[in-house]
Amino acid sequence: MNHTGIDKVTYGVTDLEKCAKFWTDFGLSPVKTGDGQKKFSAQNGALIELRSANDPNLPPPVGDEVSATAREATFGVRSTEDLQELAANLSEDRDVREDADGSIHTVDPLGYGLAFQVTQTTPVLAPELEVNVPGRATRINKRAEKYDRAMPLEMSHIVYVTDDIEPHKEFYVDRLGFKLTDAYPGRGYFARGAAAHHHHNLFLLNPGQGKRGFHHVAFEVGNIHELFGGGNNMTREGWDTMIGPGRHPISSCYFWYFKNPCGGAAEYDFDSDVVDDNWEYREWESTPENFAEWALAEGMAAELMFKGIQGSFRDKKPE
Ligand SMILES: [Fe+2]
Repeated sequence: MNHTGIDKVTYGVTDLEKCAKFWTDFGLSPVKTGDGQKKFSAQNGALIELRSANDPNLPPPVGDEVSATAREATFGVRSTEDLQELAANLSEDRDVREDADGSIHTVDPLGYGLAFQVTQTTPVLAPELEVNVPGRATRINKRAEKYDRAMPLEMSHIVYVTDDIEPHKEFYVDRLGFKLTDAYPGRGYFARGAAAHHHHNLFLLNPGQGKRGFHHVAFEVGNIHELFGGGNNMTREGWDTMIGPGRHPISSCYFWYFKNPCGGAAEYDFDSDVVDDNWEYREWESTPENFAEWALAEGMAAELMFKGIQGSFRDKKPE
């Protein structure tokens, strides 16, 4: 099966304007739809779609007391043959709807909306990284760029909280052909589309509290400076950090997560692992150190950031 990664996440929301501002501040580009829906695009064409939480065409929300949340994840596949194979497979034990655009829609074993389409994304080429280290200077006679905001290149993964993790994992991996890349056995599974090279396009997490619900979506940016520029811009615009900036040992990336009025969180990532079938799957202990090598709990508030550099640097003396 040739899943190419994640193409679209559709939210049911209660405050359309606030949610639209979130994604614009995050750095996605508004897409003209002409039908009253709001869509926002990453640079590779991956979409965030916002609809009313009451939209009867959306799968029901999963989780307790949820008003705004992600309602459907659409994964890309390479061809219509892939789509037909998936439709036949899924139709064996659940309703599958085919839309006019050819996409197929159903729900996964926990009720999360699940769709597939021939991918609408296009490969992006990040600007060349120009980094100076001794002996390997690649930016010569040129000042480094400063980022006032981020412009995410692609959507990389979606994360669900699950209270039935083994059957949930088996559905995606054993039945639909996603590939495991790393795991907290019994507690968390990272999986990528079979034709995708992201470390993961899907992460299923069982925190052991008997809960289920959408957790977050993640986007890749092209530069560490852009990750910080994007995070600082979100902070200036009044959005709250969930956690970050920081760095994940699993998937190697720098991260910064923001609480999202659409539900859950949205994550900036930079320098995530890129994998193919030669990747070595590993099992990890679920510890804080394996979640984050380091992290700030509440972002970098401007008043804290500049606190240490008020006054003259010249006047500061080591103790
Ligand atoms: Fe993530």
